[in-house]
Amino acid sequence: MAQDKADSGKMWGGRFREGTARAVEEFTCSVHFDSRLYRQDIRGSRAHARMLARQGLISEADRDAILNGLDEIEAEIDAGRFEFKRELEDIHMNIEKALSDRIGAAGARLHTARSRNDQVALDLRLYLRDECDRFDRLLKGLQTALVRLARANLGLVMPGYTHLQRAQPVLVSHHLLAYYEKFGRDRERIADCRKRTNVMPLGSAAMAGTGLPIDRESVARELGFAAVSRNSMDSVSDRDFAAEFLFCCALVQTHLSRLSEELVLWASEEFGFVDIADAFCTGSSIMPQKKNPDIPEIVRGKSGRVYGNLVSLLTTLKGLPLTYNRDLQEDKEPVFDSVDTVSACLAITTDLLANLKFNRERLEAAVRGGGFMTATDLADYLVTRGVPFRKAHEITGQVVARCLDRGIGLAEIGLEELKGFAPEIGEDVFERLSIEGSVASRTSFGGTGNVRVEEMLKLAEKELGIG
Ligand code: ARG
Repeated sequence: MAQDKADSGKMWGGRFREGTARAVEEFTCSVHFDSRLYRQDIRGSRAHARMLARQGLISEADRDAILNGLDEIEAEIDAGRFEFKRELEDIHMNIEKALSDRIGAAGARLHTARSRNDQVALDLRLYLRDECDRFDRLLKGLQTALVRLARANLGLVMPGYTHLQRAQPVLVSHHLLAYYEKFGRDRERIADCRKRTNVMPLGSAAMAGTGLPIDRESVARELGFAAVSRNSMDSVSDRDFAAEFLFCCALVQTHLSRLSEELVLWASEEFGFVDIADAFCTGSSIMPQKKNPDIPEIVRGKSGRVYGNLVSLLTTLKGLPLTYNRDLQEDKEPVFDSVDTVSACLAITTDLLANLKFNRERLEAAVRGGGFMTATDLADYLVTRGVPFRKAHEITGQVVARCLDRGIGLAEIGLEELKGFAPEIGEDVFERLSIEGSVASRTSFGGTGNVRVEEMLKLAEKELGIG
């Protein structure tokens, strides 16, 4: 049966009598996405070559030829002049073949005591370690935008919601700082993920280690790793660090999506709490009056693929026997996609917040517009007058019902009428029933009281180094 056979010239061609079918080459190829790891691959190879020379496994002349060759290849790839060959499968073999073509036998010595199995694990760890650092900077930038917005709007009151029903008045800054906390935890989680990523797998070779006298510690030191992996079989099969990173991405995206949802609501005519700058909105091709909050909508919409990437990798891993299996090649695209998607969402949301305006009049109207948001304050007031909370809750409910009947707000009911519900009530109740009084009174640690929020804002500014 005639088959379409590709050229031989494979790095692993020795035991094969026939060339690879073209369709198989196409199917197994990963260089169109893993070429993205070329810097990490070359960095790892440099450290490996230096170690081989230190250990007397290659000569110093060979090492120098390898280092020079790798420099040239890196410069070519940087400049977009390198020709990636699909028949060479992946980034590792593309670089190694180019090196051998260039420097001959010395190039063929680079792969001593190394396998693509530990090599690819190394590359991905180097890559994600850098991404952890970049994500930390992006998240910090977003936190900074939130804190600046909270500072600029300090004192402004808005309705706080539960069940998307008006619940209690809060400071806009308190609401914004809630997201500061969420993104702060994301930074901690990524820092933690970085610790488990920062372990050096090279030297595990194919999966059992090597009999050649390598020095893994010195490679780890050169590449800035905190530790050397302890089990060669684990090292070439482990992608936990990548799954963790994808989980971190999924949770960052969840937080971005919740913030986006609020921005979409707040920008609607119904709420009217914010105005998103024109430069950050788009129009409608048919309805001339429209100004749509497409950025937060798209950020919210991207959540699907970011969660999908996490599930994709977990599913790839779940049935794999130890150790390396080619399935693991499927780890990279979800990682790259989440890196690109979430970092773009972080950056654009940061810009959007820097251009966001709160609408004072609409917030004022929303806060004053009934909803009995200070009802809890009346109940709390009764508690300070010795009424048990459950009883105070019931009395307040009756007062609310009366107000509803009369079509008035809580602060408009007269003192005598209030005394009819509970004789404990005095003139001083009205400052507690005002919106400002209610907000200011919530001074429990972590509450929305103005003094507390100012403290927290200062703390956040100190943490960010902007205070
Ligand atoms: N392209 C492969 C991957 O991404 C590299 C390792 C291949 N190893 C092997 N024995 N075929 O996982």
